[in-house]
Amino acid sequence: MAGDTVRLGIVGAGGRGASFKATCDTLPDVQIQAVCDVDEARAQRVAELTGAKQTFTDYEQMLEKADIDAVIVATPMPLHAPQSVAALRRNIHVLSEVPAAVSVEECKQLVQAVRESKAVYMMAENYIYAKPIVLVKELVRRGLFGTTYYAEGEYIHELKELNELTPWRRRWQTGINGNTYPTHSIGPILEWMPGDRVVSVCCAGSGHHYRDARGELYENEDSTITLCKMRSGGLVKLRLDMLSDRPHAMNVYQLQGTDGCYESARAPGEHDRVWLRDLCPDMNTWLPLHELEEQFLPEDWKRQEELARRTGHGGGDYFVLADFLAAVRGERPPAVDVHTALDMTLPGLMSQVSIAQGGRWVDVPDSRVWGTEEEPKPQLQMVFPPHRFASLPEPPIPAGYRLRQIRPGEEEKYLALMRKVGFAEGWTVADVQRFMRNVLPGGFFVVEHEPTGELVATAMANHAPREQHPNAGVLDWVAADPAHQGKGLGKVVTAAVVRLLIQRGYERIYLLTDDWRLPAIATYLSLGWEPYIYDEQMRERWEKVMGRMHV
Ligand SMILES: NC(=O)c1ccc[n+]([C@@H]2O[C@H](COP(=O)([O-])OP(=O)(O)OC[C@H]3O[C@@H](n4cnc5c(N)ncnc54)[C@H](O)[C@@H]3O)[C@@H](O)[C@H]2O)c1
Repeated sequence: MAGDTVRLGIVGAGGRGASFKATCDTLPDVQIQAVCDVDEARAQRVAELTGAKQTFTDYEQMLEKADIDAVIVATPMPLHAPQSVAALRRNIHVLSEVPAAVSVEECKQLVQAVRESKAVYMMAENYIYAKPIVLVKELVRRGLFGTTYYAEGEYIHELKELNELTPWRRRWQTGINGNTYPTHSIGPILEWMPGDRVVSVCCAGSGHHYRDARGELYENEDSTITLCKMRSGGLVKLRLDMLSDRPHAMNVYQLQGTDGCYESARAPGEHDRVWLRDLCPDMNTWLPLHELEEQFLPEDWKRQEELARRTGHGGGDYFVLADFLAAVRGERPPAVDVHTALDMTLPGLMSQVSIAQGGRWVDVPDSRVWGTEEEPKPQLQMVFPPHRFASLPEPPIPAGYRLRQIRPGEEEKYLALMRKVGFAEGWTVADVQRFMRNVLPGGFFVVEHEPTGELVATAMANHAPREQHPNAGVLDWVAADPAHQGKGLGKVVTAAVVRLLIQRGYERIYLLTDDWRLPAIATYLSLGWEPYIYDEQMRERWEKVMGRMHV
């Protein structure tokens, strides 16, 4: 820093990048020193607007040559993580636009870069600073909501035209199904559920009713709903809609606690309202939220309100930059550090996995354990290679056993089998019914032991694309009753699933398994499955597994 002044470089001189000029004007000891944009004219224009002395068209050059302490990353979404990582590696502080990243892999790289850097990383989630959000947070902090356990957040922002002006939005916001822009919705809610995080998500959409300027349907469904299960057991519902024709509603929320609730206004002219057991005369009387400002809005917010009003997003832009500069100066930790940023980003990324898998509940990783002992090891993967499709063996079904589909009403029998092999901890009949609904048609195989009517083996075929296997089918939940060992039943159900996936046209067929499941792996190998080795660690793990199989 030159004296106490923090010198900023802005990368991305579009609408958002330029907006930081108004914010910098409200704060002392900060100056925009450099501007970088691949579009030189834009870089020049924003440099003139902000008084920046240096302009660049190459980001690496700016990092290398500009006299800057920090960068504001205001480029399209897929550049946020790589550009943040590049700055952190040079110990240049980063304020990154939202969301933090566009893939789980990028999130991991970001966490590692933050760990290894001396610089501060903060994500510029600005909605968390808006007055109603801060006021509700204070009411929660004072215990007036009791325990908060349910919330809703909506981001409804019709941007079909903006999509054409900023084509990256067409690709990254409306070109992927699921919640592609979650931080403004989940961010405030996490402020009201302190210490909590989303542990799993399930996402579904409302279908496609609009076309882009070229007549193409958007990949993202018009409205998607993401249900978030919280670590505390609570539930959050997020709605994202960037396509439907209707007025904007970008900051619409609800919160429910044991002693109070909050509903934000949906349209101009309406008021935010709360019901709080301690302050309302009965259970039918709402209080306008603004009536609580004088008593409960934190002094800090009130004191800076005048300045904050001169910036965008209800003053949120002012507080984001003020907090970032305080963190750069070492006065306090960044308000939205990398893990908080990923708590707001990862539920969206995992919602995209969920919706691609027919709304399956998907775990949301905790970035805090990445790179530590607690990090769960990825499972081993195997693929059934297309060159073996024609020679898939047809294992014989032993006498007294019958291969068929599961039937409604057999949920308890299925659970009994799964418990025997140690799979079904915590599963309920409703979970099995969900499997039945989501499985590929004709893909829920069981083997019945005819003399007893028991189910003694099972496997499932699911549509389950993942980053490494786009448009893939998976062999799921293979189990065989140990009491019926040696009859080749695991082979029977596995081959049945593979055959079905081939018939349905899948070219990529994979499974997940664990290093210690040697008999199961032997079964898969004997049918023609092959280890899927994608990095050095996997190679080492497979070498060990194969070594143990041959002793
Ligand atoms: N927090 C908020 O409230 C808020 C509001 C608006 C936008 N945003 C975020 O800000 C970001 C930018 O949005 P925008 O509306 O300004 O988009 P924009 O398209 O107007 O601007 C992006 C700019 O980045 C430049 N760019 C692209 N690739 C580059 C590269 N490799 N190096 C340097 N410059 C490059 C483009 O030329 C363009 O000028 C987005 O991630 C968006 O989600 C956040």
